[in-house]
Amino acid sequence: MEIFSIFSSWLLTAVLVLSMFLICRYTLKSNRSSMVSPKLPPNPPKLPIIGNLHQLLGKPRHLAFSQLSQEYGPVMLLNIGTRSCLIISSSAMAMQVLKDQDQILCSRPISKTTKLLTYNYVDAAFSPHSNHWRKMRKVLVSEFVGPKRARLTNHVLLTEVEIMLRSISLHPSNSAVNITELFLAIAKAMICKVAFGSNYRKREQLLKGPSLEVMLDEVMELLDPSLSDLFPWLGPIIDQISGRNHMLEKLFSNLDAYIQTYVDDHHNHIGKVDDDDKDFLHTLLELSSIENASHDDRFTIEEIKALIMDIFIGGIDTTFATMVWAMSEIIRSPRVMQKVQSEIRNCAGRKQKLDEMDVSKMTYLKIVVKETLRLHPPAALLLPHESLSHCQVGGYDVLPETMVFINGWVIGRDPSTWGENASEFYPERFENLDQVEFRGVNYDMVPFGGGRRTCPAIKTAPATIEFTIANLLYSYDWKIPGGEKNEDLNMLEEGSLLVRKKLPLFLVPTKHNWED
Ligand code: HEM
Repeated sequence: MEIFSIFSSWLLTAVLVLSMFLICRYTLKSNRSSMVSPKLPPNPPKLPIIGNLHQLLGKPRHLAFSQLSQEYGPVMLLNIGTRSCLIISSSAMAMQVLKDQDQILCSRPISKTTKLLTYNYVDAAFSPHSNHWRKMRKVLVSEFVGPKRARLTNHVLLTEVEIMLRSISLHPSNSAVNITELFLAIAKAMICKVAFGSNYRKREQLLKGPSLEVMLDEVMELLDPSLSDLFPWLGPIIDQISGRNHMLEKLFSNLDAYIQTYVDDHHNHIGKVDDDDKDFLHTLLELSSIENASHDDRFTIEEIKALIMDIFIGGIDTTFATMVWAMSEIIRSPRVMQKVQSEIRNCAGRKQKLDEMDVSKMTYLKIVVKETLRLHPPAALLLPHESLSHCQVGGYDVLPETMVFINGWVIGRDPSTWGENASEFYPERFENLDQVEFRGVNYDMVPFGGGRRTCPAIKTAPATIEFTIANLLYSYDWKIPGGEKNEDLNMLEEGSLLVRKKLPLFLVPTKHNWED
């Protein structure tokens, strides 16, 4: 009996060990087979070393991706140097990335430029997915775009729109106004005044070095992956010889000096400012000096500067580019112009100036802005995402550390979602939708991205754009200079990371004549 029981327990143990061995072997084998021969998305033919790079040269990136996706489908894999890039070109696949697989595809790729500009990824926009990213995003959402800052943001918007209208009124009659320049000034002031306070311009005038606008243009250029990112063995040498590294270092040092000036000024006045007058930087500096906060909660100066860098890069050019596209589309379509102007003037009636309440009633204006973002998402490819681990999209395997580009530009123009008039500016397509929601019904437009990386300004940025356009159209009637036909307005695009109108928009204003 005893021998039997010893024997049976040995037998049991042996059976258990054997089964565990077989299970492990099977699991390993099946894992290995899915890793050895994963089902990868279609991949256009590539060349040794450079991969598919040659298929992207000479065209804006969103157009090159869009052309390739017509042949290879809405989930496509490109190899660019040593990087694997997943290219998403349909709303269904965007939904899989931004919703279904959001927890895996929500990181950001690293690059030489973002590493430097974000003080080694201590920011919110470009840092890989982590608890640190969560902390930075939380403070950006609550302290910059959240309701706490709404009073200051509205005050800045009202003031800046007044400055814009005054500058138009001082313009010689019958001469063209540079609308692009006006919009850039508003978008920049919206960020800088909320971040640094209303005296930011006075301080800026004393600064040496290139203007913020010029520096941001350079940022957009240098955010494109460098040769060091794509070809780690030879790229660094070429980037050094070509002067790219030098340009990047100089740019960073200028931007850092610009931000540091405001940090120093604020440091000097931190105890003397009333709560009501505090701006974003005051709040951040307070968070850096809370005595009883644990070390992890306290903000470092690098984190503060990295957040300022995020709002510069994320907030200024996107907003002004959208305003320019909106005004260009409106001017190109006399029908839309007539309809939106009569809505604005009817809603507000005859008064000195518009307020937020007037604009909140302008439903057609809201869908005009929505239609603009459908056709002209300024971040045409969003910001690149990256996979944290293995997952599947559209039935294909996506390996860890794959870069993911979502082509918002092509998704917003897809005839299978938007019908035959998909590329036409036709705001009425949204008329029957109760709410203007920027993620569309099924991710059929994604101008603000989606998932946990969604743009934190998804609500506030459209409001700024609506208010600015409403004021411009309320007080003035507009025409294209030189007798050019409205529909012939040049709409050429430029840029890769930020797609904006190539030529500045010039328009001739005439003060609106109210008939009594
Ligand atoms: C019309 C205006 C704007 C558009 C179209 C826009 C669009 C976008 C897009 C497409 C993304 C990437 C989303 C993704 O990766 O899935 C993004 C991210 C971001 N945007 Fe905006 N944006 C606008 C205005 C602003 C403003 C005014 C700010 C200033 C606070 C801002 C700050 C950011 C930040 C910090 C991120 C990174 C979020 C993260 O990675 O967690 N954006 N934006």
